[in-house]
Amino acid sequence: MIKRKGRSVDESRVEMVEVVLPNDANPLGNILGGKVMHLIDIAGAIAAHRHSRGHVVTVSVDNLDFVHPIRVGQIILLQARVTRAFHTSMEVEVRVYLEDYVKDVRQQTSSAFVTYVAVDESGRPRPVPPLTVRTAEEKRLYREALERRRRRLALAAQMHQRYFEGKRRQVGT
Ligand SMILES: CC(C)(COP(=O)(O)OP(=O)(O)OC[C@H]1O[C@@H](n2cnc3c(N)ncnc32)[C@H](O)[C@@H]1OP(=O)(O)O)[C@@H](O)C(=O)NCCC(=O)NCCS
Repeated sequence: MIKRKGRSVDESRVEMVEVVLPNDANPLGNILGGKVMHLIDIAGAIAAHRHSRGHVVTVSVDNLDFVHPIRVGQIILLQARVTRAFHTSMEVEVRVYLEDYVKDVRQQTSSAFVTYVAVDESGRPRPVPPLTVRTAEEKRLYREALERRRRRLALAAQMHQRYFEGKRRQVGT
């Protein structure tokens, strides 16, 4: 059997920054949730691209909370990294922070686990390299990813049963 070479977490790391502009804000001057979701998807997809070195599609986003508003003129900072690679799918953690350079603060505002599937030119899932983990935090996220995957696939199976005529998802590793 040929063993696939692993890639480190650092190889997939992404950091993205943007200034919040009025066009991306609600009438209160806070960034729109949809804009944050868009940036989460972009940062997460780049991490998945870096790990898989090919096309990816977003298949699932775990629950997403917006804990603090980010205001016009502040900076939105996103950090993404692959936390575990399965067979064709990858779990990516994206953390969102606000940075206020006038008040000199950085504060986390959201975090999300997004699952991407590597696909070929025809959109068919294709295998990805395993993830090699080094630090204690990387190992913890890697270990816990199995339970998160079990829960999201179980939830997806329930939802698909209800809304998509029972297309079932395989639950397991
Ligand atoms: C993602 C997609 C390619 C999966 O195709 P599929 O034929 O259902 O493939 P499979 O059932 O073999 O699943 C492929 C992988 O996705 C994972 N997956 C499927 N549904 C999932 C879900 N809801 N959450 C997490 N992972 C999921 C499977 O567990 C499998 O992972 P693994 O190979 O690492 O074990 C297909 O559903 C698709 O193209 N979806 C639309 C993606 C898209 O366009 N996204 C942009 C927004 S619309």
